Amino acid sequence: MTDAPDVPAAGRYDVTPVEPFGVAILAPEPGARVADLDVTTLRALVRAHHILLLRGFAPFGGPEELSAYCELWGEPSVWPFGTVLELVEKERPEDHIFDHSHMPMHWDGMYRDHIPEFQIFQCVHAPGADDGGETTFSHTTAVLEHADPGTVARWSRMTGTYHRAMEYYDSVTVSPVVTAHPVHGAPVVRYNEPVAPGDGDFVNHPDLRFTGLPDDELAEAHRTLRAALHDPAHLYVHSWRTGDVVISDNYTLLHGRNAFTSGAPRHLRRVQVLGTPPLVNPGLVR
Ligand SMILES: [Fe+2]
Repeated sequence: MTDAPDVPAAGRYDVTPVEPFGVAILAPEPGARVADLDVTTLRALVRAHHILLLRGFAPFGGPEELSAYCELWGEPSVWPFGTVLELVEKERPEDHIFDHSHMPMHWDGMYRDHIPEFQIFQCVHAPGADDGGETTFSHTTAVLEHADPGTVARWSRMTGTYHRAMEYYDSVTVSPVVTAHPVHGAPVVRYNEPVAPGDGDFVNHPDLRFTGLPDDELAEAHRTLRAALHDPAHLYVHSWRTGDVVISDNYTLLHGRNAFTSGAPRHLRRVQVLGTPPLVNPGLVR
């Protein structure tokens, strides 16, 4: 995996590596509070390692407490529902986000005015150990570093045009598949994985079109890109435990979800935190 810089002030915490990338801090004693960890240090850890897992800490008391904590990180994205998205399966969902199906790889904010830098997840209740529902994160800088130059050159010719209408937006975004990290400029992938049109169980397919390569080469480019994003060398699969807090780097990673058993008690909360300054979505058309 890519060498990540050490974060000097992190020495005061017991920071352990997560495979294949990311770091974890386990609560030093029962009842320890996430809010007592230094946010400047945690932010530097996420920027360096892209995933930070905080495990065993006292849970936030409710969505308001989580939201207040996230404000220590920066300006939260505000949605029609507020800042805290309650990710729970709905009985008859109008969109796959609230279903138990898989969620294809994407980046958060792709259809919004601003792209958040961080996602902060709290696991209120984990699904059962055999229920699936893992959140998947792909390290796209590592994907590009490890692919052969000819393959990267083909991916770099692709542009995605994405249209998605759901409860909270009806937007079109156009983005090159390979683009530059908005802060340090390293190459990253911005891609929403297509779902096979024949997957009739998938609720509310987005409308995805890709240009820049002839049709036969496009199919091959999707296949190689998908394989690289899901290569275990670049993919962190997070199996939730109740109480976990996971903070991810949305500028570098793509993320998705594995399908889970319908009716499993999976309950996550998610807050998005904008960068400093907030990143205006470069791809939003409308
Ligand atoms: Fe997402």
